[in-house]
Amino acid sequence: MSKYAEELKATAQGMVAKGKGILAMDESNGTCNKRFDKLGIPTTEEYRQIYRSLILQTPELSNCISGPILYDETIRQSNPEGVPLLKIITDAGMIPGIKVDTGAKDLAGCPNEKITEGLDGLGDRIAEYYSMGARFAKWRAVITIGNGIPSRGCIEANAHALARYAALCQEGGLVPIVEPEVLIDGDHTLERCWNVTDETLHEVFNQLYTQNVAFDQMVLKPSMVISGKSCSQQATVEEVAKATISCLLKNVPATVAGIAFLSGGQSEEQASAHLNVMNQMFGDQCPWPVTFSYARAIQQPALDYWAGDSSRISEAQARLLKRAKCNSAASLGEYSSDMEKTLAAV
Ligand code: 13P
Repeated sequence: MSKYAEELKATAQGMVAKGKGILAMDESNGTCNKRFDKLGIPTTEEYRQIYRSLILQTPELSNCISGPILYDETIRQSNPEGVPLLKIITDAGMIPGIKVDTGAKDLAGCPNEKITEGLDGLGDRIAEYYSMGARFAKWRAVITIGNGIPSRGCIEANAHALARYAALCQEGGLVPIVEPEVLIDGDHTLERCWNVTDETLHEVFNQLYTQNVAFDQMVLKPSMVISGKSCSQQATVEEVAKATISCLLKNVPATVAGIAFLSGGQSEEQASAHLNVMNQMFGDQCPWPVTFSYARAIQQPALDYWAGDSSRISEAQARLLKRAKCNSAASLGEYSSDMEKTLAAV
């Protein structure tokens, strides 16, 4: 058992506290720059600093967000006025988290599939992040649905790496967010997504068990069971909610501290509506809190509006807060599409 067990349990519960979710803002410099480039924002450290400060200084953010997931550059940054971003986070009562994987690379022997790297030296990096003040971590594995894939080789390799990461995190005092993302890309049906998610989650929990990971000291960040983006028949919100919850109930131990979904390329409103119906229709069947850990579905409207313009910061923050509020309501089963019109930012 980890010497941090009690602290880890408390942190994990705080991450999924009632009405709150996690804000993923841990895009690597490469991914962040790609999103900036599309909007003509300079792809420099200075602009990433301004953007990340904009997000973290959003008034009232901590009413809806338990903690942000940061990237290595961000956890070391200050805002443009020189206040460390870590101080801004903890002063607002939020818990700082850190992405610790080093990205998904081609998986040898398995064409068109990926393996997430970053285990070498991870124990030392976790120790440094803990000493800086981080209290949770994230590792994202990517599973692609396609012709003949995912393979067993891909699922087992990624599940094993997730489990090794999670065990190292718990040993070093960070709550692991375990993120096996089944990608939304493709023309697969809802049923195929269910089967792939089922096989993936089963193997992830098998490997977590083998590596002695404490389930009450981790958070699962799954993708929703959803029709492929280019599938001609798109499942309804209720169908997605039902399929997702049934897959989770089959595979996720009741002692897991919480479920916090990724948005994975869904529209902002879809991501809120799916989460809402899961809680509204099935909340009382779930042994764990079911909430969000979205990046794009929270950030995108703010990023689009800001687009690098300093005169647009407070309005961009209002747009970010609106998405945070909608998703907070969805985590309680209290979201409605009316909120899209009635909340201040439009
Ligand atoms: P999205 O919500 O944009 O899918 O991002 C979540 C995340 O953290 C991916 O690793």
